[in-house]
Amino acid sequence: MKLVRTIDELTHIVKAWRSEGKIIGLVPTMGWFHQGHLSLMEMARGRADKVVVSLFINPIQFGLGEDLSTYPYDLDRDMQLAEKAGVDLLFAPAAEDIYPVGFQTAVSVKNLTQGLCGASRPDHFGGVATVVAKLFNMVQPHLAIFGEKDYQQLAVIRQMVRDLNFNLEIFGHPIVRESDGLAMSSRNSYLNKEERRHALCLHRSIQYAKEMVEKAGPKLPVVKLTDEVKRIINTTPGCAVDYVEVVDKDTLLPSEYVEKNSMMALAVKINDRVRLIDNTRLDLKESVVPDNK
Ligand code: PAJ
Repeated sequence: MKLVRTIDELTHIVKAWRSEGKIIGLVPTMGWFHQGHLSLMEMARGRADKVVVSLFINPIQFGLGEDLSTYPYDLDRDMQLAEKAGVDLLFAPAAEDIYPVGFQTAVSVKNLTQGLCGASRPDHFGGVATVVAKLFNMVQPHLAIFGEKDYQQLAVIRQMVRDLNFNLEIFGHPIVRESDGLAMSSRNSYLNKEERRHALCLHRSIQYAKEMVEKAGPKLPVVKLTDEVKRIINTTPGCAVDYVEVVDKDTLLPSEYVEKNSMMALAVKINDRVRLIDNTRLDLKESVVPDNK
């Protein structure tokens, strides 16, 4: 595996691969790899001849008071893990290369970013869309893979690809969980033992919601479901609801009743310090991929 630190070197290598007719797959990340990231890399390995992973803690997707300065980082550790996952090139640029002095352009996906995480993180998805657009232009991959754990992010990227005519295919990868159900996340490393135990309220909420939908059948009012889920979370020590919503899986607009296309998404703050997200389809299928139409 090759470690590349500059855009010039990256473009030189991927240009050569393209001229040899290689299929290039990209997995954008912010590092501190866990099995969720590694599964995306393995999926890319299965679909592409050359796998590029970007590792860049993107400053413009963090809001004021968020965890930019404490985000976990260990390049040596991540290099070893990526190499084992069959990655060909790890691109870890400096922030000054990605955002040189004078940088002033932004990609904004309007409607899909209004609700869910966008409501409490108003600049987040603009930062994500901008850096991902730049990565697509730098790497020019044939395909890119994103996780369904960040479901709204995946929907935003698909929309951006359609709207701006990026010439690549986007794949979603199902949520990868710890054996007790906690969705894997680099931010889980912020949790102490007790908080880690309490963080299970997210997965408990998902299981509860699925059971409730199964029992209630069609036309379950969403408030009935979300009130119960909020109670589960808010009665767990240290845990507070940021949002619990049932939305249409494609438009991400809130639903009044649980429907065929419904999914539940939630964000929970633990001890006002760590913010975790999770989601599930409510038709009892684990995997959710918005249609790329
Ligand atoms: P990061 O949080 O590092 O995640 C990188 C990719 O891994 C994302 O596509 C995310 O959805 C996926 N991922 C993380 N945990 C997962 C899990 N438990 N199961 C499945 N997939 C999982 O998301 C970002 O970085 C950034 O916003 C980025 C897209 C790189 C732009 O800066």
